Amino acid sequence: MKRAIYPGTFDPFTNGHLDIVQRATSIFDEVIVTVAKNSTKQPLFSIEDRVEMIRESISDLPNARVDSFEGLLVDYTKRQNATIIIRGVRMISDFEFEFQMALMNRKLAEHITTVFLMPEERYTYLSSSIVREIAQLGGDCKPFVPLNIEKRLLEKYSR
Ligand code: COA
Repeated sequence: MKRAIYPGTFDPFTNGHLDIVQRATSIFDEVIVTVAKNSTKQPLFSIEDRVEMIRESISDLPNARVDSFEGLLVDYTKRQNATIIIRGVRMISDFEFEFQMALMNRKLAEHITTVFLMPEERYTYLSSSIVREIAQLGGDCKPFVPLNIEKRLLEKYSR
């Protein structure tokens, strides 16, 4: 049983993230998309909202589920009896930070391996903060996020 953890802030979850989850579910038996609680970022959506939004977005993937965690990612990964961490790399600029994190996680837990997946090319320029900015300024987010998330963004910024 190969269980993989896909961690992130997911504020919000985008089509680029969904692309990574779809790829991961075709490789691993089970994929847990997990929302990090201890991010230094000031999130727009609460943890509960992000978990709910991801649950709706991945409902058609039978071997994917969503969760959240606090503390060290490697500790969470061990608690889930998983040995794989998935990270998406969009461009070379992601690599330095991802490389550092993967090596540190390996130092902390040698049996846990980080696997990097590339999203489809058309998502390589996407990020959650760019999506938030477009939504805030009244732009069309439809091409960038699942439908349920576009709705939540519209609700958030119409207040
Ligand atoms: N499609 C679209 N956007 C993507 C993407 C993809 N496929 N892959 C990454 N991104 C974007 C995200 O939207 C995010 O954009 P933003 O900065 O504009 O919000 C950015 O890339 C990176 O975010 P994310 O992938 O969510 O990572 P993160 O840096 O926010 O989270 C954790 C990293 C949570 C995994 C890391 O902080 C962690 O492990 N924390 C737990 C504590 C710990 O163990 N620390 C020691 C680590 S060595």
